[in-house]
Amino acid sequence: MESLTSLTATQRAIQLEEQYGAHNYHPIPVVLERGQGIFVWDVEGRQYYDFLSAYSAVSQGHCHPRIVDAMIRQAQRLTLTSRAFHTDILGQCEKYLCEYFGFDKVLMMNSGAEGGETALKLTRKWAYKVKGIAQDAAKTVYATGNFWGRTMAAISSSTDPSSTSDYGPLLPGYQLVPYNDLSALEEAFKADPDIAGFMVEPIQGEAGVVVPDAGYLRGVRELCTRYNVLFIADEVQTGIGRTGRRLACDHEAVKPDILVLGKALSGGTMPVSAVLASDEIMLTIRPGEHGSTYGGNPLACAVTMAALQVVEDEGLAENAEVMGQLFRDRMNALIDKTPLVKLVRGKGLLNAIVIENLPQYGSETAWALCMQLKEAGLLCKPTHGDKIRFAPPLVITEEQMHQACDIIEKTVLNLNSAD
Ligand SMILES: Cc1ncc(COP(=O)(O)O)c(C=O)c1O
Repeated sequence: MESLTSLTATQRAIQLEEQYGAHNYHPIPVVLERGQGIFVWDVEGRQYYDFLSAYSAVSQGHCHPRIVDAMIRQAQRLTLTSRAFHTDILGQCEKYLCEYFGFDKVLMMNSGAEGGETALKLTRKWAYKVKGIAQDAAKTVYATGNFWGRTMAAISSSTDPSSTSDYGPLLPGYQLVPYNDLSALEEAFKADPDIAGFMVEPIQGEAGVVVPDAGYLRGVRELCTRYNVLFIADEVQTGIGRTGRRLACDHEAVKPDILVLGKALSGGTMPVSAVLASDEIMLTIRPGEHGSTYGGNPLACAVTMAALQVVEDEGLAENAEVMGQLFRDRMNALIDKTPLVKLVRGKGLLNAIVIENLPQYGSETAWALCMQLKEAGLLCKPTHGDKIRFAPPLVITEEQMHQACDIIEKTVLNLNSAD
């Protein structure tokens, strides 16, 4: 092994991770040390456009001063009490969340996966206490291609073998239907009265930004109502302005029975997730039955209120709508210029391009393009092989968006002409 001192700062940091960290990720080889707004800087001092935003968590931009300020001020007062005691800020934050999203009650957790788990537990509890399903018979339905995290409950609904292989046995009581297929959903509901809930992403992010047909969410809402099944919207990635509306469900003016949020809820400062529902659903869980030491901690509460207020005050959903259209227009114009870009899809600032594999790179074409983009000063990551997700912070300006699109355009055209 090369001596650590002869390596660059980048190589040194990567080698440390390689040696001491689990190999559960395959990062783009760039070592970041600072972020501000839509930019991040690496340890060599190079600046990059961040077109991933930590998988949509840093929607308000890196180190947003108002969010960081709220965090510091709270960190100096009180950070954690556990839920063994009340705090002066939890109720304020719960009120804020309920009024902001229009629900009776909220349950705060930490990661998105924990949010999904909470939704699943609420659904099962509701199934037994309210719907009247026989003990242990409740089923939940998921759409093929879904992604809601890495816990056992989350991977039990996965259709991606790399998530599930060698991790069995998986949780029982799950059923899958094709995404964007209302007839299949109705068939499933009709066939089994023990179905308690349908959990679905309004746009499938990890699957490669798969946007369902217009009317899908409205159809889901109608079917769930008709068959007395809870509609659980997993808006961990799509929520909080990302798709050009406060929630992606707002595009079709539908309200889910259970809403799961995460990621941008804290503007990328710490893990915060929240599950919102009506009294009928939320009050089925009794004291001592569910929780988390850090769930609803004072620091998370302060950060969450600041992060949501920033989205409102800076009109970030509105900006996402306009900048997203600009991005897709620029990318769609590339389809005529190069066979490399096959398809552009997305809503607001959650977008992806589908790549045609070039002979010299084969199935590594999207990865090769991301590596070239890194060299050109823009960071993004492939998802599911031939798709590249582009999700910059929602604070991006028109000028910055054009500059970023110039970089993408030039890099795409160069990669194509390199064969
Ligand atoms: C739609 C969706 N739900 C849930 C999750 C899980 O969130 P976390 O990684 O915070 O557990 C993700 C993460 O990418 C997601 O995209």
